[in-house]
Order: sequence, then structure tokens, then C-alpha cells
Amino acid sequence: MKKHHGAFIKNEREIASLREANRLVANILDAVGDMVAPGVPTMRLEELARGMCDGYKVKPAFLGYQGYPFALCCSVNEQVVHGFPSARVLKEGDIVSIDMGVVFEGFVGDSARTWPVGTVSDTAAKLMRITEESLYRGIEKARAGNDVYDIGASIQEYVEAAGFNVVRRFVGHGVGAKMHEKPEIPNFRPGMRGMTLQNGMVIAIEPMITVGGHEVKILDDNWTAVTCDGQYAAHFEHSVAITPAGPEILSVSDRGLVRHCSE
Ligand code: MF3
Ligand code: CO
Repeated sequence: MKKHHGAFIKNEREIASLREANRLVANILDAVGDMVAPGVPTMRLEELARGMCDGYKVKPAFLGYQGYPFALCCSVNEQVVHGFPSARVLKEGDIVSIDMGVVFEGFVGDSARTWPVGTVSDTAAKLMRITEESLYRGIEKARAGNDVYDIGASIQEYVEAAGFNVVRRFVGHGVGAKMHEKPEIPNFRPGMRGMTLQNGMVIAIEPMITVGGHEVKILDDNWTAVTCDGQYAAHFEHSVAITPAGPEILSVSDRGLVRHCSE
């Protein structure tokens, strides 16, 4: 069987643009994270992100994407992904997932992190720690010659061993001139063989992990995904290039690779 993924292999110049796009995203996430605190309306985070996009002279990637109305996704507590920034004020004990993308030189950067608001429950803290670590377990599998589904298998095994669950409804993706390129990167084991990873592929790996069931539903705004059981969810995402030297995380800020927790 012939496999068509030549179109998804990036050259050095394209990877350089993706690296820069993702560096800017990571810088914005650093600044947004610094602002996360009890009493802050999530719209303030949106305003900060938009101001930084203007400063960097880049376009937010999500704004206008399939009609999405904001630069950021701000997903609080049981919101899994695609929550709208709003007048909602963050309060002690919340967790907030921020997903951000920009377009630089025609290439998309895409990354997400989850922060605690003040002091959070032990379960919420563990959820964020396991979700972040699961992302790194997945990244470790992003190597030429591996099956694309090895990534999700590794994420799922780690997450379920910790007693949490993997959202099935949303997956990671190839990323390049378009935000969503092939292949899809599920965060679970689909039970079949997938595409073989090759050097030059760039993928966004983004585990969305829940305390309770993995089922989600979409609110009446047609975007906000929430857990059906109302329990918390967390989300971490990096854009990663597959290189002969191994996985290269592109979404690295000027502070370096920011890890909220380390195992
Ligand atoms: N990181 C998300 C994704 O890869 C962000 C998309 S939000 C959208 O799907 F609004 F742009 F769809
Ligand atoms: Co993404």
C-alpha cells in the first residue's frame, strides 16, 4: 500500500517559521499564566493575548477559524476545550486551560497549558500534573519509524494508570500552513495501525484528560466542550517536530521549556 504523506513533510525553512510561531505562542502563554489569579475575568487574558499579537505583528490563529470568535480558548474546570473568554471571574480553586495559536510567516503555532487559580484541590492538582506528564510521555514517542498511534497509546496507559481518563472526541493533529493537517493524533490507542512517523513531520500533541468519564458535550454556544459528568478536565499541548535527533518541542518560550510540574 502506498502511503501519501509527503505533503506533510516540512523543510528546514518551514520548520524555522513554525518554531518562531510557536515561540511567540509560548511567550504569550507565559504572560497569560502570570496573570491567572483569583478575581481576574478571563476576558482580561484575551485582551493581553491580543495586545501581544499586535506587538509581535502576528495574527491570532483561532480568531475567525470556522467562526471561532476569540484569540484564546479559556476553559475553566469542567470545560474541556474551546471555552470562550468572558466576564467570568476566576476564583480560588478553579483550574483554567488556555489554548493559543498564532500565524507567523504563514505558519501556525499551537500550544496549551492548564493553570491552578490560587490553591486547588489535591485531585485538581493531580489532574494537571498527570495531564502535563502524559503530554511528555506522548512526545517521547514522536520519533521517525514509530506508529503515530504509539503516541496516544503511551498517553492513555499513563493516564489510566493514574486513575484518570482520556477524552476521545478531540485529538491532536499535524500542524503547518494550516492549523489542522493530517495525521490525526489521538490521545488513546485506536486499536489499529496508523501512519508511520517520518522526520520533517510537525504535530500538535494535546491530551485532554478528565477526572471522571471521558464523555463530553458541546454547550449551546456551539463551541464550549464540557465533561458530561461535570468533573474537571485539563489540557496541555505542544507542537513538536520529528527530527533525526528526536522530538523537538517547538512551543518553547524565551523562559525555556516551562513545565508546571515535573515527575
Ligand atoms: N488547539 C486547538 C486545536 O488544535 C485549538 C483550536 S480552537 C479553534 O484544535 F477555535 F480554533 F478551533
Ligand atoms: Co491543537
